[in-house]
Amino acid sequence: MTALAAATALAGCGSGSSGSPGSSGSSDASRAELSVSASYMPQPVSADMAAGFLTIANRSGAKDELTSVSSDIAGQVTMHSTVGGAMEEKTSFAVPAHGQLVFKSGGNHLMFEKLKRKPEQGQKVTLKLTFAKSGPLTVEIPVKSATYNPSTGH
Ligand code: CU
Repeated sequence: MTALAAATALAGCGSGSSGSPGSSGSSDASRAELSVSASYMPQPVSADMAAGFLTIANRSGAKDELTSVSSDIAGQVTMHSTVGGAMEEKTSFAVPAHGQLVFKSGGNHLMFEKLKRKPEQGQKVTLKLTFAKSGPLTVEIPVKSATYNPSTGH
């Protein structure tokens, strides 16, 4: 909730790259309503690369697409899917209407490359998610232990 509120505030005062004139606030049904939950980064073993996981939920009937991810701690963040045990870099991921896009251990994941510093457990990492239609979301994701498992909580 805090992260979402912060993201909304940030999106409101930002960049203004793709502002459409005259789209003054309304609950436009053609717009995706996105929120991020279950985000975490396991403390990386190496100093050059880290993984990240999160869930993006879409409450509206409009689908969207995650097109890029960036972070303050990484020179580059790439998006990967895991198919049959092999991972594959993707340039976008669909966020279905009334559905969710899940990044989780063993499945889709984010990879933080060219790390500027090594994230330590207890810290937070800022992530900016860019979508095809919705405005960008900025979230802070917690760094957990290297063996953290969300289903057990540790
Ligand atoms: Cu990967």
